[in-house]
Amino acid sequence: MKLSKRLKTIANMIPINTRVLDIGCDHALLDIYLTLEKGCRCVASDINDRALKSARDNVIKYDLKNKIDIVCAPGLDGVEVTEDSYVVIAGMGTMTILDILSSPQVNKIQHLILQSNRELETLRKEVTRLGFYIREEHAIEEKGIYYVIILLEKGVVSYREMEYRYGPYLLKHDRSYLKWALEREREMLACLPEIYVEKRKKQEQNILFLEACIGCQKK
Ligand SMILES: C[S@@+](CC[C@H](N)C(=O)[O-])C[C@H]1O[C@@H](n2cnc3c(N)ncnc32)[C@H](O)[C@@H]1O
Repeated sequence: MKLSKRLKTIANMIPINTRVLDIGCDHALLDIYLTLEKGCRCVASDINDRALKSARDNVIKYDLKNKIDIVCAPGLDGVEVTEDSYVVIAGMGTMTILDILSSPQVNKIQHLILQSNRELETLRKEVTRLGFYIREEHAIEEKGIYYVIILLEKGVVSYREMEYRYGPYLLKHDRSYLKWALEREREMLACLPEIYVEKRKKQEQNILFLEACIGCQKK
């Protein structure tokens, strides 16, 4: 079956035969792909009835009714988190993701895959504070938008401010993402009125930092 680049990247980060908890599964296409292509055992959960119906319809279409558990549950409450599970929370805002991770169940998670389109700096900071480190990150471009997907594992690491902002992994490995981020920072600076002296200074520092990183990375 065909998946979007974003969901395919998430699927590629999950080992074969893994137990997966897909929180906010919506259509459950990720779960169907993981079951068919990687022999994963998926629990697809959502709080929305329409999403759950779409998940059920798709699971029936692929004849996987006995292989994928579809659960109506808010966040991590109502699903069983085991140490070997990969927990995926994708396609949601940072605040919703952090709200889901405020459950006491978070302490049982060893492997976590997150994908939010906004406030990545806050997401990285808060998830690090919850006791996870960033093992891998990928920035996927689709129709001019970059989707950042973060694989986290249980463990304590602290990062520098710029690593929280742009991602420690992306800073080392992804020149095209950094170029895109640089353009966004320049646009933000152009929108900041002159009276915001401190904010403009910070924005200029971000730009200088990214220019230096891009310059250091091999083409
Ligand atoms: C935009 S869809 C993303 C679907 C899929 N994860 C993806 O990345 O393509 C977000 C889904 O998350 C669900 N959702 C939002 N908050 C949730 C929560 N607290 N618990 C479970 N599902 C939630 C919504 O109902 C919706 O179906």
